[in-house]
Amino acid sequence: MRDGRYSLVEDGAVHILEGRIDQVGPTAEMDLGLLHSDCEVIDARGALVTPGLVDCHTHLVYAGNRAREFEMRQAGATYEEIARAGGGIISTVRATRAASNAELRAQSSVRLEELMAGGVTTVEIKSGYGLDVEQELRCLRIARSLCADHAVSIVTTLLGAHSIPPEFAGKADDYITAVCDEMIPRAAKEGLATAVDGFCERIAFNTAQIARVFEAAQRHGLRVKLHAEQLSDSGGARLAARFDALSADHLEYASREGVAALAKAGSVAVLLPGAYYFLREKRMPPVDLLRRHGVKMAVATDCNPGTSPSTSLLAMMNMACVFFGLSPEEALAGATCHAAAALGLDDRGVIEKGRRADLAIWEGSDPAQLAWQIAGQQPRHVVFEGRLRQ
Ligand code: NIG
Ligand code: FE
Repeated sequence: MRDGRYSLVEDGAVHILEGRIDQVGPTAEMDLGLLHSDCEVIDARGALVTPGLVDCHTHLVYAGNRAREFEMRQAGATYEEIARAGGGIISTVRATRAASNAELRAQSSVRLEELMAGGVTTVEIKSGYGLDVEQELRCLRIARSLCADHAVSIVTTLLGAHSIPPEFAGKADDYITAVCDEMIPRAAKEGLATAVDGFCERIAFNTAQIARVFEAAQRHGLRVKLHAEQLSDSGGARLAARFDALSADHLEYASREGVAALAKAGSVAVLLPGAYYFLREKRMPPVDLLRRHGVKMAVATDCNPGTSPSTSLLAMMNMACVFFGLSPEEALAGATCHAAAALGLDDRGVIEKGRRADLAIWEGSDPAQLAWQIAGQQPRHVVFEGRLRQ
């Protein structure tokens, strides 16, 4: 039953060969002649097999926490007020810069392992809490190094244009020059990032500054993505589309023109309901408009200390349904195939011959249950690159 709900195959089986999916379909139709006599069998009776989940937007390499700022917000301060007073992203920059490599790696590993426990097999990790050339590259190196001792695929994104660092206060254009002339070329040359991101917002960078960052990224062969229209309509979605962005993320304040531009460019809309919830945002991303324009919608944790201190992609799928009105099927696509598209990866996110054998095996048989619960579920097994994750 390929065209029905979730393209679900009842009583199905998956045959994996050398880390890739070799056959998938009803068990009765599997060509047993293709199986090795000594192949390992994972019994998935009574279970649901989905693609391994893809978290396509995280900032999980950082040190410290922002619990004090949470108290301030509960006492009435807004996210923007805290940021303008030198807190917010900059307070995490201070803690991250002060942490040793070992501390930073250890704190980040905990978050990565929590994500993995929820069935995630691919994680995007942004820099953005170093905000100088060496510190940004250090964060990217630490992010990349995490896959050495974790059975997970890691994709890194340079987010040097996340906020104006204290040394460049009042000189945002000069900082952007450093991002374009030093940070991006070094990250590209050292193979530390596949994409470049930015924060286009009145408390961060304007469209002219982000355009310079994107031009530099493209000169160095890197794709772009953007934190766009999170707190206001700043024209970020249109700008992202102009540079053929892989994705535009947040989008609460996206305009009709912004959505139309994303559709034309084929950029993915990454919805981040954790940040919407945690900032008690009033405005929803224009989900109906995105649907009508055929823009793919991904769902991600945005795991970060300021706006989404969460490591549960399943919780985000639930919130995407409850807050944004996605169907559970859209939420699952958002955390698998559309998330892979937001990273420019066409080798995963779907269970199909030739794709990577990254799978999550869940108790139960109804795919809607993944978005139904408010997190809480853990897969019975995870298969990563064809091997059972221990
Ligand atoms: O995705 N919007 C910008 N970046 C993060 C927040 C970072 C922070 O507050 O530390 C986000 O929401
Ligand atoms: Fe983010």
